Amino acid sequence: MGTLVIVKKYNRCLFLMLILLLYSTASIANPRVVGGFEAQPGAWPWMMGLGYAEKENYFGQYCGATLIHPNWAMTAAHCVVNTEDGLITAVENLVVFIGVHNLKTDTGKRIALQRIIIHPDYDFHADKNDIALLELKKPVTDIMPIDLPGQYFTDPVMPAGTAATLLGWGNIKPSSIFIDPSEEIFFPESLQQVSIPLVSNETCQNAYTTYYPEFDINIATGMLCAGLANGGKDSCQADSGGPLLVARAGVNSWTQVGIVSFGAGCAQENAYGVYTRVAYYTQWISDTICRASEIPDRPQLSIKALSSHDFQIDIDTAASTGSFYRLYYAPYPDAKHIQYTDLVMRNHVVLQNLNATQRFYLVVQSYQGVCVSAFSNTAILLPE
Ligand code: ARG
Repeated sequence: MGTLVIVKKYNRCLFLMLILLLYSTASIANPRVVGGFEAQPGAWPWMMGLGYAEKENYFGQYCGATLIHPNWAMTAAHCVVNTEDGLITAVENLVVFIGVHNLKTDTGKRIALQRIIIHPDYDFHADKNDIALLELKKPVTDIMPIDLPGQYFTDPVMPAGTAATLLGWGNIKPSSIFIDPSEEIFFPESLQQVSIPLVSNETCQNAYTTYYPEFDINIATGMLCAGLANGGKDSCQADSGGPLLVARAGVNSWTQVGIVSFGAGCAQENAYGVYTRVAYYTQWISDTICRASEIPDRPQLSIKALSSHDFQIDIDTAASTGSFYRLYYAPYPDAKHIQYTDLVMRNHVVLQNLNATQRFYLVVQSYQGVCVSAFSNTAILLPE
């Protein structure tokens, strides 16, 4: 006689009661995220926890977050909005912490919040646009923020099957789609990680429509799915707001492609974890948190043909350059499959030995952390 619920819809009181209950009864046996393992302490410096200000880390933490700018953390909107009535949680009740591996033994740095910004189109009924930005009372200046993907970092560059890493202090026991009081829940003390493949929105939608029609889940463009058809590895309660990461050459070795959002139960068959697709929101993030002085000048792109197969690409800015350039390229003339490469500490690239099939559109943006310039002019590379 269980009640049918999507797992994220447990209310927070129930959730806190469960933590308290577990604290008194649970025994630590081989702590793992659903299907994962304990992270290396200090390996994920920008990883943050979000919790209640009046409680210690272990009892207060109920969501993850990441440092994306010295003054800002990013999390899921449903972590800071009451999903019953849509009201935003009062800032003074919340705290984020950073530099914590073990919630019981590490205090890390606890930072109060100045302001909570929910995505203007957050829809808590459909779980759409599940992203929130948390302004910090004090900046974090000694930790480099996590890299976010460029706005065209879409399926072609992170196809289904790409290995992604998930982090969190959430429940490590699989949970079914019914509230089942006999089901075990266990919140680990230390940060857990698990590697799961990305899944296309289409596969994800089909699985939900076929196997969980009662939830009427619509996988929107701003969502990203990850997990295994057989279940067993997934995010779960209290992982929400935390990162899904892809390893990538660039400014940082990891890029946060997703924010833990929802799923039907945890680690169930054919119920992939659903994440907020960060690439879809990077322009909004920059527009929302960056001051004018942090936004680099619009760069100018020029191409010099060194021969019919060799080209030099130069990037110029009038005054304020950012910390790196992101050079997008897409096949010409059918500009599907946009990809990008980051240029750190340099404003030119030489491409050699291109043949006539390697024709590309090129466009560049200048970045100062997450703060992004306008797009440059578009250039076309036409080897003969
Ligand atoms: N919404 C949950 C939270 O509040 C996380 C759900 C993730 N579920 C999943 N099956 N991947 O912590």
